[in-house]
Amino acid sequence: MIISGPSDYREAARRKLPPFLFDYIDGGAGDEATLRANQDGLASVNLKQRVLRDVASLSLGTELFGERLAMPVILGPVGLSGMYARRGEVQAARAARAAGIPYTLSTVSVCSLEEVIAANGAPIWFQLYVLKDRGFMRDALRHAEALGVTKLVFTVDMPAPGPRYRDARSGMSGRFAGARRLWQAVRHPSWAVDVGLLGRPHDLGNISRYRAKPAGLNDYIGWLGANFDPSISWADVEWIRDVWKGKIIIKGILDANDARDAQRFGADGIVVSNHGGRQLEGASSTARALPAIADAVGDRLTVLADSGVRSGTDVLRMLALGAKGVLLGRAYAYALASAGQAGVARLLGMIEKEMRVAMTLTGTASIDRVDRTVLA
Ligand SMILES: Cc1cc2nc3c(=O)[nH]c(=O)nc-3n(C[C@H](O)[C@H](O)[C@H](O)COP(=O)(O)O)c2cc1C
Repeated sequence: MIISGPSDYREAARRKLPPFLFDYIDGGAGDEATLRANQDGLASVNLKQRVLRDVASLSLGTELFGERLAMPVILGPVGLSGMYARRGEVQAARAARAAGIPYTLSTVSVCSLEEVIAANGAPIWFQLYVLKDRGFMRDALRHAEALGVTKLVFTVDMPAPGPRYRDARSGMSGRFAGARRLWQAVRHPSWAVDVGLLGRPHDLGNISRYRAKPAGLNDYIGWLGANFDPSISWADVEWIRDVWKGKIIIKGILDANDARDAQRFGADGIVVSNHGGRQLEGASSTARALPAIADAVGDRLTVLADSGVRSGTDVLRMLALGAKGVLLGRAYAYALASAGQAGVARLLGMIEKEMRVAMTLTGTASIDRVDRTVLA
């Protein structure tokens, strides 16, 4: 399939992956109204066209948490990436490093933190979920610190997994799921060989390390429900703040009061996010929630955002609404599934190019100057 723009990777991923994996990436909670609202909300953000402002020299570089980035884009945590491409987390991290941006490894990744850091040759960001077994959290923090990780993304919008009906329809979960997945794999031979066979071991690397036995992939959705902890509270943030010396970025904030609390409990940054419409069906789109949150805490916390970003123009829209950096989720998961590291690299190139065009046409020479003045 010919890839002309970032959005083509979705169809390319659909063709490549067994349906249970494509739908796991593509789907959202409930009837997927929030999932749709994320993209619609961004699409309805108008940028102000300005002309004749000499934008021959553009600068996209920025600094986040003391780290220099080639552009204000971060590969966000996407669980099970090693099922979309062979050792997918390693491939995505390498593409991010080559593009000069951070990669965030999910708690529920196939490749472990040490595998990705060793292959990448540089530290990455690490995302932490709280499991009922709190010993895991302590161990994961210590381990990440020992490996040189200095940015912790603490995801707080998953005290329980959202109702994702597509997973039951597709064979990711539900009756006869194992047999259905096997049948789908047989019908997607290039994936079955490349990832299904040669991409082993298929395991939750960070969790198995702690538990000393393979965790969770046979009934992944059931495992999430059984192990995620609805009792998480600000006391957990307080505890992490005490033991973690690096930066803490709280992911999953959608309310200005929660953002103020994040600041009060010692976070360095937040990610305004509804988890890509995968958790609370009916939650506001990020585009809608972001401006009020940026107004409330933007001068004290580094405000990042995600959910619904599919293009360089969308990145600019998020920045215009008040974010200092933007996380990609599905956008790069589709590219990874379709063409591995090269796909993610190409996607990032297209996103950068689109950002340059949007900056030129809004008359903004420096990315750090993108703010509400570029909104029409
Ligand atoms: C397949 C998939 C897996 C995800 N896994 C995680 C995860 O392990 N941890 C996490 O904090 N967020 C996870 N997310 C949420 C993303 O980090 C991000 O918030 C979301 O994808 C943004 O929405 P978008 O994909 O529409 O851009 C996941 C999202 C997807 C699509």
